[in-house]
Formats: sequence, C-alpha cells, structure tokens
Amino acid sequence: MKIFLDTAKIEEIRHWSKKGIIDGVTTNPTIMLKDGVDNIRANICQIAQLLENRPVSIEVTTDNPQEIVEQAKEFSSWADNIVVKIPVIDPKGNDMLEVIYSLGKSGIRVNVTALMSFNQAILAVKAGANFISIFAGRVCDEGHDAATLIQQIRNWLDSWNYRSEIIVGSIRSVMDIQLAAINGAHIITIPPKFMYKMCDHMYTRETVRTFLEDSRREP
Ligand code: E4P
Repeated sequence: MKIFLDTAKIEEIRHWSKKGIIDGVTTNPTIMLKDGVDNIRANICQIAQLLENRPVSIEVTTDNPQEIVEQAKEFSSWADNIVVKIPVIDPKGNDMLEVIYSLGKSGIRVNVTALMSFNQAILAVKAGANFISIFAGRVCDEGHDAATLIQQIRNWLDSWNYRSEIIVGSIRSVMDIQLAAINGAHIITIPPKFMYKMCDHMYTRETVRTFLEDSRREP
C-alpha cells in the first residue's frame, strides 16, 4: 500500500520524504488556496522535482471539456511525474468520461477525482483512469459507509483485473486511515497533520520515558 501526502506544502513533503514513507502527493484547488500557493506552476514543479519519479496530482480548474484537454496537456508538460486530476462530473452533472478517455489515449496519466459512489468508480475505470480518488470523508458526511465502498470497489477491480489504483482521500481522522488500509485502498492520501498523529501515542511516550529513566538508575 502507498501513502501520498495531501498537501501543497513543500516543507511537509520534504519532511516526510526524508523518512522514506511517501510515495506521491495530491493537491486540489482548495489545498492550494489553504496552503497559500500563489504560483501554481512553480509550486507543482518544485514538488515534482522533490518527488523524483513519484507522482504528483494537480487538478484542472475549468469544467469546459476543451479547456480541460488544454490544461491537462499544459500541466503534464511541466514534468514527467505529473498526473492530471479531473472530476468525474461537472457541477451540472455532465460526465467528463470522454475527456478522461481521450487524455489517457494520448498518454497523459489521469486521476479521476471527487468519486462518491461505486457506479462512478466503474465508469471512471472503464474510461481508463490510472487513479480513482474516493472521497471517504465526504461519503461519510452523507451518511454512507466509505469502508464498505472502498472494499467493494477493490474487489471489483481485482476480480476483473483492472489496473486502476484506488486513492482514498478526504481523510478526516486517524481512524479513517486504518479503515482505508484494511478495506483495500491501494493508496491513502493523508493531510500532514494526521501523519504526526499516526505515529504518536501517549502510552508509548510514557513507556519510552520509563526506559530512559531506568537506564540512568543504579541497580
Ligand atoms: C484528494 O485527492 C482530495 O482532493 C482531498 O483529499 C479532499 O479532501 P476534503 O474532502 O477534506 O476536501
């Protein structure tokens, strides 16, 4: 299983990359805004360079199919490890499947994003998505069971030998991470604040403190 960082913050990517546990990065326009990115190209190129051959996803900022194609070509020309993120539908519900299919045919790697249902995942995979991003937190916001959804999509992919990889995003708690892992996510994209929480534990701290104190005591 792979771990991506869900961030545009260079210092966080550098920090976690040094530990050997980061397999890629995902961003979206909201993350870019929150992380104070004022030059998207410079930010993405810096991330792409830091990651070497590991992928970084950047999302299109238009819902016009022709403009999506142009943006996707522009983004993917910035570095070899760039993946273009395209929402499965536009705000009116029109599907983006034809664009996804044609970009895949032209050799651009596509991450189909904002997936909330099994049926959306089926169509994204059939259209040739390299990655399918399931928004676990948002699925749960609507009262649905993201863990079961992830498991069912993974089983379906495996039983038909599809090569698309599931990215579980929209992580809202440390518990979401382990549920995604147990239920078959290929990749979990994690906001940095949860990375710190994954490793820390009050009782481990206390245990280690006791060991250190005892190591300094006379028998
Ligand atoms: C990642 O690919 C998604 O864009 C991101 O995880 C969405 O998270 P959110 O639902 O917290 O905005």
